[in-house]
Amino acid sequence: MNNDAIGVFDSGIGGLTAVKELNQLLPNENIIYFGDTARVPYGSRSRETVMKYAQEDIAFLRQHKIKMIIAACGTVSSVVGTGKPVKDMPFTGVILPAAKAACGATRNKKIGVIGTPATIRSGSYAKAIKAIDPKIQVIGNPCPLLVHLVENGYTQRDNKITILAAEEYLAPIKAEGVDTLILGCTHYPVIKDIIGDIMGEGVKLISSGAEAARYAYNCLLEQDMFSDREEKGSNTFYVSDSTELFKENAKSFLGHTVEGDVFSCSLGD
Ligand code: DGL
Repeated sequence: MNNDAIGVFDSGIGGLTAVKELNQLLPNENIIYFGDTARVPYGSRSRETVMKYAQEDIAFLRQHKIKMIIAACGTVSSVVGTGKPVKDMPFTGVILPAAKAACGATRNKKIGVIGTPATIRSGSYAKAIKAIDPKIQVIGNPCPLLVHLVENGYTQRDNKITILAAEEYLAPIKAEGVDTLILGCTHYPVIKDIIGDIMGEGVKLISSGAEAARYAYNCLLEQDMFSDREEKGSNTFYVSDSTELFKENAKSFLGHTVEGDVFSCSLGD
C-alpha cells in the first residue's frame, strides 16, 4: 500500500488523456500533473532538447510525494526509449503500453502509427512492435500540424482544416490497409472522431495515453502500491504557462471543466 500520488507529465495538455483514464481506473488515487505549456510543442525539437526538458519535468514532479511517474507524451517516451530515467520508483512512457495494445488488436498484422516528427523519426513504435512480433508491418507518418490544430481548438468533427490535414497525413497509412492505428501522440485522441471517420469503422484506434494509464494500473497492482484511501483522490495540475489558458484548453480537451487545483509554476520552483 502506498498513498503517495501518481506523477504524470506532458509537454502540454495531451497527457490529460492519461489522467482521464487514471481517474476512471483508480478513483481513489491522488494525481500530480505537470504540463510544460510554456514550451509546448516538444515534437519539433532536437533529441537533446527533449531529453533536457524531460529531465526538468521529472525533477519538478519529484519535488512532490509521488510513487510513480508516467511520461504521458509520445515525444518524451520516444526520446527516452527503453532507458529508465527514474530508478527508485516505477516509470512508464506511452510506447510499450500502446505497442502491446496494438499488437493484441491487429488481425492482419499491419499497424499504422501517427505521431510528432520526433516520435516517428525515432522509430520507437516500430522497434517496440517488432520486438513483440517481427512479422508485423508498421507504417508510420509524422503529423506536424495536428498538435497545433488541437492546441488551438480546431477539434470539432466537421472542422474542414483539421479534416484536410488528417486526410493528407493518413492517406499513405490507409493505402497500406492497416487494421490498427496507434495515436502515438497524446493530443490525438481529442480528434479521434475525425481520424476514425477517415480510417473507417474497421480500423481500431489505440490511445497511447490511455494505454499508459492501464499499464500504470497493472504496475501498481503487481507491486502492491495502490492507495488504501477510501475517499475520492485529488487531481492537482501544475503548468508552466497561464493557468487560465490551460483550464480553457483542458475543457475542450476533456469535454468538461478541469476537476482539481491548477497552479502556475516555473521549473525549479
Ligand atoms: N503530447 C506530445 C506527444 O505526445 C505532443 C505535443 C508536442 O509536440 O509536444 O508527443
